[in-house]
Amino acid sequence: MAFVTRQFVRSVSSSSTASASAKKIIIKHVTVIGGGLMGAGIAQVAAATGHTVMLVDQTEDILAKSRKGIEESLRKVAKKKFAENPKAGDEFVEKTLNSISTSTDAASVVHSTDLVVEAIVENLKVKNELFKRLDKFASEHTIFASNTSSLHITDIANATTRQDRFAGLHFFNPVPMMKLVEVIKTPMTSQKTVESLIDFSKALGKHPVSCKDTPGFIVNRLLVPYLMEAIRLHERGDASKEDIDTAMKLGAGYPMGPFELLDYVGLDTTKFITDGRNWNSLSSVSCNYEL
Ligand SMILES: NC(=O)c1ccc[n+]([C@@H]2O[C@H](COP(=O)([O-])OP(=O)(O)OC[C@H]3O[C@@H](n4cnc5c(N)ncnc54)[C@H](O)[C@@H]3O)[C@@H](O)[C@H]2O)c1
Repeated sequence: MAFVTRQFVRSVSSSSTASASAKKIIIKHVTVIGGGLMGAGIAQVAAATGHTVMLVDQTEDILAKSRKGIEESLRKVAKKKFAENPKAGDEFVEKTLNSISTSTDAASVVHSTDLVVEAIVENLKVKNELFKRLDKFASEHTIFASNTSSLHITDIANATTRQDRFAGLHFFNPVPMMKLVEVIKTPMTSQKTVESLIDFSKALGKHPVSCKDTPGFIVNRLLVPYLMEAIRLHERGDASKEDIDTAMKLGAGYPMGPFELLDYVGLDTTKFITDGRNWNSLSSVSCNYEL
């Protein structure tokens, strides 16, 4: 009888564990690694939408700079959002800043976080080292995501033992303004992880789209060849940079011309993106883009 009871308890508890594990994770606590341009933006938006945020970078000086940047950006948001009520604006800024803690030691702060979003330097080896280390310290349920623009998400996920809880979460610059988030699914990413990240993106007030782990995902796959073609057009002496920018704004209705956009994204970042993936590998169309 005791054996039957134990079996019953075991089967009830294992089926409840199975149904619990099928449930999406509601992301409340976010750890953002990298407090640069993108990481600071992600931390700001997450905190402003009611999440508890831990922001990690290499030094206290960088973190102080990130925090100052976040505060300035929040003040601009508050000025618009609470134009009629500056006191409410001040409270919004203070509450948001109070939701962000900082650390220089990622491994010591990921034990109970729901999501780690990595936005560090665009280098596979460095990203792999980081995730391999964090995999040992993070809780079992924690989802890992990379904000990489150009690296293969699968190659980053393979540094961990949680490939089913690993995805790409690609934000756009400037994060507080840009509505899009690309949620990138590798062949190993579970549906539960994708759905949890889609819900999280919506909770940030963003519009998520999903895409397979293909070079450039959606936006950069279409945008980078366009930018490179603009450079070639200019290099051939066919048109000036200014005229190309004007043509695309007035003729195609784009808010910025390709050269303005290249300056905005940064030539270094664009170079990393073009170098980071073999743009020929998954495409039937030959395109060898180089800056
Ligand atoms: N800049 C863009 O427009 C853009 C857009 C989308 C995605 N991305 C991607 O986001 C990531 C970050 O880009 P960014 O423009 O914010 O770079 P950034 O140089 O502004 O910031 C990177 C930050 O990461 C920190 N860092 C580096 N190694 C670290 C480590 N091991 N641990 C903790 N912190 C570390 C650096 O100190 C720096 O503050 C890259 O993968 C990039 O491809 C960039």
